[in-house]
Amino acid sequence: MKNPYERFVRPLLFSLDAETAHHLTIQLLQKASHFDPALRVLKSFQASPRRKTLFGLPFPNPVGLAAGLDKNGVALPAWAALGFGFIEVGTVTAKAQPGNPRPRIFRLPERQALINRLGFNNDGADAVANRLAALRKSGRWPAVPVGINIGKSRATPLEQATGDYLHSFRTLRDFADYITLNISSPNTPGLRELQEPEKLSELLRAINNEAGTAPKPLVVKISPDLSGAELKAILAICEENDVSGIIATNTTLDHSSIPHELDQAGGLSGAPVRNKSTALVREIVARSTIPVIASGGIFDAESAREKFQAGAVLIQVYTGLVYRGPQLLREIMDNL
Ligand SMILES: Cc1cc2nc3c(=O)[nH]c(=O)nc-3n(C[C@H](O)[C@H](O)[C@H](O)COP(=O)(O)O)c2cc1C
Repeated sequence: MKNPYERFVRPLLFSLDAETAHHLTIQLLQKASHFDPALRVLKSFQASPRRKTLFGLPFPNPVGLAAGLDKNGVALPAWAALGFGFIEVGTVTAKAQPGNPRPRIFRLPERQALINRLGFNNDGADAVANRLAALRKSGRWPAVPVGINIGKSRATPLEQATGDYLHSFRTLRDFADYITLNISSPNTPGLRELQEPEKLSELLRAINNEAGTAPKPLVVKISPDLSGAELKAILAICEENDVSGIIATNTTLDHSSIPHELDQAGGLSGAPVRNKSTALVREIVARSTIPVIASGGIFDAESAREKFQAGAVLIQVYTGLVYRGPQLLREIMDNL
């Protein structure tokens, strides 16, 4: 049976172009974030707490908002009110940038999927830091862990990627309970090369040097398209550099399950990435002790359970939220 979001809200949103629907949703949640009666209404969706601890931080529940939905950190109080156990802001880049030309988000309802080639459209680290500082000052900072996901600015050559990440790290670290290094989005040319051992090692060393005596939990977000050998090398480097967690996974470039007439260039998310992501979670858990946050194709209680059974400590949702709405959280939590 369809839930109320699927019956009433989704048809309205899906009658709009995907990015317009996205902006409309974000604007509403941004407005709600400043208005206590609206937050109280959103809270009516919440399930009871299912506490978890990771990185020494208390999580009220293990279901988080994946990066990309609130790239600029405009609606943190609303996400917390909806019942997310943690929120990942970003991807934020050192420089503000517009991203790729529109259209750049595509729905594939037949496949319960999205394809996006946004290319890190965001306000830039300085503007996001100012916004988060204002939120903190206002006393409306959410009572759940906030991660900040950082990536490379498109205009910065790959050889200077470390400096670019360092700028965002320095600017945003004070607002983050953990920092995610996104080295796996397929829409910034060259970004995935940062998963190569030498480049990843250089990046992690630089961030750890910068963190000095007050380290932040550092999380690395990886692609589902890695070979076994590539994954093994990444895990070794993450262990050497005291990485606190791994997010598995980002979107996939493997479009083999998508018929030609539905296909678009970009990262594929949702149901088609589910198995690949789960397999990677299982492989990481078998090979390493680094905790895993699972992301990819979580649409219901069953697909969420699959990630925990594979060994994930926390999970994150994006595409499932677009198709199933906020009741997805309750459905997952009630069946944990
Ligand atoms: C429209 C869209 C934009 C995204 N933007 C980002 C991003 O900026 N940074 C990032 O790390 N992941 C981004 N992602 C990836 C998601 O965070 C998530 O890892 C991926 O979509 C798999 O989960 P899902 O199947 O639940 O969507 C984006 C995904 C979508 C669909």
